[in-house]
Amino acid sequence: MVDITKRFVDVVANDKVSFSLFPNEVCALLGENGAGKTTLMNILFGYYLCDSGEIRIYGRIVRLGSPKDAIAHGISMIHQHFTLVPSQSVLENAMIGVEGGFFLDKKKARKRLLEIEKQFGLDLDPDAMAFTLTIGQQQKLEILKALYREAKILIMDEPTAVLAPIETRELFATLRTLVDNGRSVVFISHKLNEVMEISDRILVLREGKNVAERKKSETRVQELASLMVGREILESLQCSDSAAGNTVLQLKNLRVRNSKGVVALDGFSLDLREREIVGIAGVSGNGQTELSELLFGIRRPEEGSIVLDGKEVPGGSPSAMIRAGMARIPEDRISTGVCMDLSVMDNMILVDHCREPFSKLGLINGREIRSWVLDRVRDFQVKTDGVDAPVKSLSGGNLQKVILARELAGQPKIIIACQPTRGLDVGAMEYVHQAILRQKERGAGILLISDDLDEVLLLCDRVIVIYEGRIMGELCSDGIDRERIGLWMSGVA
Ligand SMILES: Nc1ncnc2c1ncn2[C@@H]1O[C@H](COP(=O)(O)OP(=O)(O)OP(=O)(O)O)[C@@H](O)[C@H]1O
Ligand SMILES: [Mg+2]
Repeated sequence: MVDITKRFVDVVANDKVSFSLFPNEVCALLGENGAGKTTLMNILFGYYLCDSGEIRIYGRIVRLGSPKDAIAHGISMIHQHFTLVPSQSVLENAMIGVEGGFFLDKKKARKRLLEIEKQFGLDLDPDAMAFTLTIGQQQKLEILKALYREAKILIMDEPTAVLAPIETRELFATLRTLVDNGRSVVFISHKLNEVMEISDRILVLREGKNVAERKKSETRVQELASLMVGREILESLQCSDSAAGNTVLQLKNLRVRNSKGVVALDGFSLDLREREIVGIAGVSGNGQTELSELLFGIRRPEEGSIVLDGKEVPGGSPSAMIRAGMARIPEDRISTGVCMDLSVMDNMILVDHCREPFSKLGLINGREIRSWVLDRVRDFQVKTDGVDAPVKSLSGGNLQKVILARELAGQPKIIIACQPTRGLDVGAMEYVHQAILRQKERGAGILLISDDLDEVLLLCDRVIVIYEGRIMGELCSDGIDRERIGLWMSGVA
């Protein structure tokens, strides 16, 4: 890709960016939230046409007017949000858009699929329905789909953001097999340790421009971080050491079923106090999602009780939770965190619109809202075309910042933060960690549900490990023993 420029109204997302990719390599694209990584790859995948610049594939200038053109040139892109058909099987999903004609030769397709699975070590049952697959398996299926389409170039946009550590290991093994077999991979991630582990070469973008390119062997994590944000990142967090106060959230003996009717939390009890951060650590899929849904008021407990600030609240009422002073940061920002079609301003005021000074006697005060939102956009450094822009035009990390600004700007008593820094660049992550600590100093009780053990250990006063919906154990921050936590996370008592 040579001198690629792409403008969206007022934003120059890519400004004369050049990018090359070679066979047998994993090249990482790094950059802050909104630096233009996804846009550049969307251009390569034919989603967007660039305003100027040219794309050459194996030396030939090409015009990629649609993903179909890109696929025809051997390019596949796996987005963060998968594009599988839930009600179809693995085999059917792989065949979509490839097997043309009137008759589908499923037998032939199955043979081919199994060959690919064998060659690349991707074992998936061709007859399994897509909706029964775990996130890691869904991602494998996306890779299989790409290989079925004979992809030579595989673009993966933040593939590890949704994976458990063990799934990440498997993905990296697959990516290695791919590049050893002559394919090329573009890997986008904010996790610098992963970038150092899997890539051969690293390209850094900042504000839509090329800033640096490094061979893996010639750089270190610290250098990459400062190249990205243009300053040193020093995550040494400071928080005044004040004792925790009264209990603000009490969960007693909860039993919760998930949407498939399986018990997801059992005998779950927990106390959270003022000025305290309690972390829930565990491999994803062990009840964390159901715990957050319960606390957000969108799932009811079968047994047990939830006591907020001394009062028992009924399950299943989001507004009761908000009224009791709870701020909620959901893990799935697209489906539950924002309304994609609403503007940045509407999304930021979603929770507070019905209180003074934003509304009085049922009338919205647009001026108050606008000035409050403008302040939050500035505080949280949300990169947007303006507060009236629809949130769907924001980059992934900036969407997350909109949610954080909405939830952390007030004076919540309790904060339930699920994967709060997923998809954020290192600079933004530092900012969010500080914002959480400021809330703690102010007196909030914070429950941090995160797959990122480093984040949990960095912020929390107490860590609770869950496994298959039960509490395996609890440690205080001065007695942290990583090995013990690791064992608990894998179910070893
Ligand atoms: N469809 C669109 N309409 C308007 N602006 C857009 C659109 N897509 C992207 N942008 C803007 O272009 C810029 C680059 O966005 P992009 O999604 O490429 O960033 P990114 O590097 O992938 O960031 P992140 O790490 O947060 O995912 C951002 O300022 C974003 O708001
Ligand atoms: Mg992106």
